[in-house]
Amino acid sequence: MEVFKTKSALKAFLAPLKASGKRIALVPTMGALHNGHISLIKMAQQNAEVIICSIFVNPTQFTDPKDLEKYPRPIEHDLAMLADAGCNGVFMPDVAEMYPQGADEDWHIDLGNAEFLLEGEFRKGHYQGVTQIVKKLFDAVEPDVAMFGQKDFQQVLMIKNMLAHFSLPINIIICPIIREEDGLAMSSRNIHLSDVDRKNSLVLNQSLKYVADHFDEFDLKELETKAKAFYENIDGVELDYFTIANGATLEPATSKEENSVVALVAAKVGSTRLIDNMIIK
Ligand code: PAF
Repeated sequence: MEVFKTKSALKAFLAPLKASGKRIALVPTMGALHNGHISLIKMAQQNAEVIICSIFVNPTQFTDPKDLEKYPRPIEHDLAMLADAGCNGVFMPDVAEMYPQGADEDWHIDLGNAEFLLEGEFRKGHYQGVTQIVKKLFDAVEPDVAMFGQKDFQQVLMIKNMLAHFSLPINIIICPIIREEDGLAMSSRNIHLSDVDRKNSLVLNQSLKYVADHFDEFDLKELETKAKAFYENIDGVELDYFTIANGATLEPATSKEENSVVALVAAKVGSTRLIDNMIIK
C-alpha cells in the first residue's frame, strides 16, 4: 500500500493506472477508522480495481475548534487497518496541501434548502466545508466511484447536490450503516463515550428501530412523539432532533405515502454528539 502526502505524487501514481483502463474508487475519511470504514473499502473493491482512501481531518467543516482539536488521529492504527483490508493507496495531505491559500479561502455553493435543516441548523456552514473538501479530493483523485456511509445521510445528499452543481461524472455509492452488536452505529466519536454514555447511547438505535417497527401502527406525529419519549429522563442525554423526514428534501414527512421516508436523530450523550438514522422506505 502506497502512502501519498501530495496531490502531485498521487496523480503520478494514478496516471498509468487510469491510462490502462483501471477503475478508481475513492473512500474519503477523516481517519480514526473502524469497521464501518472498512465496509466502505470492501464495497469499493466490488466496484473498482484501484482503491484510494483519503485521511484528512478537514478544518473547514468543524464549527467548534475544540471538536477539531480533540478529533482522534490514530494514524498508525488506521494505516494497518487499510493495509489489512487491501487498500491500494492512502492520500494523507496536510492542511497546506489542501488549502494552499489558507483554510479560510472562499467557497460557497448552493446546496439547496436541506443544507440548513437538521445538522445544518446545529452546525452552521458544516456542509459548505464538507463539500469544499470533497470537491478538492475529487479533483485530486478524479475517481470513477466514491463511497460514503449512510450514517451521514444528510452529508450524502449534500455531496450529491455538489456533484450536480459541478456536473461531475462520479458515481456515488451509499454503504449501509455498520452497527455494534448491541445496535450502536459505528462512529469515530464513540471512543469518547464513558461506560455510562456507552449504555445511554443505545437509545438512538432503539428509538429509530421503534419507528421502523411500528411505522404501520401509528400516524407520523404519534410515532415522532413516541420516539422522542425515549429520551425523557435519561440523565446525560440531550436530544437535538428526532425527525421522520422526506428522504429527498429532509423536510418533515407529511404523509406515509411519500416515496422515501427516513428517521433521523442527533443527541448529545455525555459530551459526545452522536447522529444516526434509519431508512423506513
Ligand atoms: O464523513 C467524513 O468523514 C467527512 O465528512 C468527509 C466526507 C471525509 C469529508 O471530510
